[in-house]
Amino acid sequence: MDLGIAGRTALVCGASKGLGYGCAEALVREGVNVVIVARGAEALEAAARHLAGAAAASAPFVKPVAADITTEAGRAAVFALGHDFDIVVTNAGGPPPGDFRDWDRAAWIRAVDANMLTPIELIKATVDGMAARGFGRIVNITSSAVKAPIDVLGLSNGARSGLTGFVAGVARSAIAGKGVTLNNLLPGAFETDRLKMTMVGAAQKAGKGLDAVMDQRRRGIPAGRFGSPAEFGAICAFLCSVHAGYINGQNVLADGGAYTGTF
Ligand SMILES: NC(=O)c1ccc[n+]([C@@H]2O[C@H](COP(=O)([O-])OP(=O)(O)OC[C@H]3O[C@@H](n4cnc5c(N)ncnc54)[C@H](OP(=O)(O)O)[C@@H]3O)[C@@H](O)[C@H]2O)c1
Repeated sequence: MDLGIAGRTALVCGASKGLGYGCAEALVREGVNVVIVARGAEALEAAARHLAGAAAASAPFVKPVAADITTEAGRAAVFALGHDFDIVVTNAGGPPPGDFRDWDRAAWIRAVDANMLTPIELIKATVDGMAARGFGRIVNITSSAVKAPIDVLGLSNGARSGLTGFVAGVARSAIAGKGVTLNNLLPGAFETDRLKMTMVGAAQKAGKGLDAVMDQRRRGIPAGRFGSPAEFGAICAFLCSVHAGYINGQNVLADGGAYTGTF
């Protein structure tokens, strides 16, 4: 299926590896120009080289911006490039797990800043331009924890739920009639460094081996496996496609069937 977005320009945040990289890769394969952001310059440069190698024959550009997207300076560095973004994929690292009794105001502000206010700032900076040009796609990478909260991820449950409520309103505002959609893509368990890191923590806490803990987690997923960044990226690219113009304000869950509700 031709997604009909070749020649468009995308901003993909948190894209040197993991889910953000998967989204950037799926987009460049469709001929979309991408600006990719992450803090670590070396990994980002390597990702940009791989993406350039994976790009469609129409040879879209791949521009890395080494910046912390949760800061004003980081976002300014992205917008200083002067691109009109047709597609924005918001993403940054998730907050740490823990016990809510230990989180002070500073911990909450960090989580809200990264996982709620940063996507809101990126939406604010791009959505009106998209509406004026008659096409726009915003995909926020959030978490299955928005639908099925995970107790130790209270910072994530809270901050991302705030973003979800905000997006639900904006998606249905006047921009909806101007070719702009906003959706959230909710990962369950995907095989990335972040997942491995949380599994290492869980193994240490339980006094078990990493393989045993990972196997146990896989068995809890009806699909019997973790998702891959490539399949996550493919869903993201479809939501960014011309074919998805009637999908708006949705929370699209990709979790191998782990969520047990009917809806
Ligand atoms: N993987 C899963 O199973 C899963 C499940 C539910 C939710 N999620 C959420 O999905 C998001 C992506 O997860 P992932 O598994 O892809 O993580 P990952 O493999 O650790 O990759 C995170 C990417 O984001 C970049 N990044 C982190 N903080 C950033 C910042 N402040 N500014 C710019 N770039 C930043 C990282 O590079 P630098 O560190 O160099 O900046 C890296 O490129 C996270 O919010 C995570 O909580 C993941």
